[in-house]
Amino acid sequence: MTDGAAMLLTGGAGRLGTELRALLGGVVAPGEEAMDITDPAAVAAVLDEHRPAMLIHAAAYTDVAGAETNRALCWRVNVEGTRNLVVEAMRRGIFFVHISTDYVFEGTTGGYAEDDPVGPVCNYYALTKLAAEAVVRVLPEHLVIRTSFRPRQWAHPAAFTDVYTSQDYVDVIAPMIAQVIRRAREIPHTTLHVATERKSAYDLARRRRPDVRPGSKREVAVRLPDDISLDVSRYRRLASQWRDA
Ligand SMILES: NC(=O)c1ccc[n+]([C@@H]2O[C@H](COP(=O)([O-])OP(=O)(O)OC[C@H]3O[C@@H](n4cnc5c(N)ncnc54)[C@H](OP(=O)(O)O)[C@@H]3O)[C@@H](O)[C@H]2O)c1
Repeated sequence: MTDGAAMLLTGGAGRLGTELRALLGGVVAPGEEAMDITDPAAVAAVLDEHRPAMLIHAAAYTDVAGAETNRALCWRVNVEGTRNLVVEAMRRGIFFVHISTDYVFEGTTGGYAEDDPVGPVCNYYALTKLAAEAVVRVLPEHLVIRTSFRPRQWAHPAAFTDVYTSQDYVDVIAPMIAQVIRRAREIPHTTLHVATERKSAYDLARRRRPDVRPGSKREVAVRLPDDISLDVSRYRRLASQWRDA
């Protein structure tokens, strides 16, 4: 018998997971073919094989528009998949780090703190992520990280001046999350917002695409929040303690 792995990551081939794999040395990251999280037997077998001390759950159905027409699949992956992992983590005493989203909030006033009331959510994807958080909270040892990120490059020719966010590029956010994961057991909270300062989507876009055009969310059919920004003061306090330590 070999020693168990320190960390097992789901969604390791995804946008965030790819960055986390590079940042967290030695993490085991079985892909969907090895561990489809909607298959309880596959989840149990992979955890038996690797016996991790910590599970980092970054796998999800993330196609926000697709979720509206593909609700059953979105629920199966985001809620039932999370439940399958939680059941096995509970049995084995595994510390659970769950990646969640700013979309659990309504997105009207912004500046949402960890303990602010969640909802009402504005789309089906957000509903499943909120339900997944509730599933994770049955575990005695867990950390829910609410975050939001973009690919490394701004992909669109325009960006909204009337949507406010604390999201950032994935190569900015992932190192912050990696540090939180390394410190997860010392964090005296079960929810942590990991993001940067409030800004418009347009201001964020200009940082990596100076020629991006200003646009308005009124130009698109989907409903978008006015201000989904997170209060990140809890994260900042912790990060400054870690810097000083
Ligand atoms: N992107 C954002 O702006 C954002 C914002 C806030 C929170 N989040 C959260 O952050 C996490 C990572 O998001 P992301 O943008 O990096 O996602 P992503 O690029 O869409 O990657 C999702 C990963 O989940 C895996 N996956 C999907 N269904 C699975 C299943 N049944 N079994 C096992 N693995 C499965 C995918 O594997 P395959 O590639 O093999 O399908 C992929 O590796 C998610 O929890 C998401 O909800 C994202």
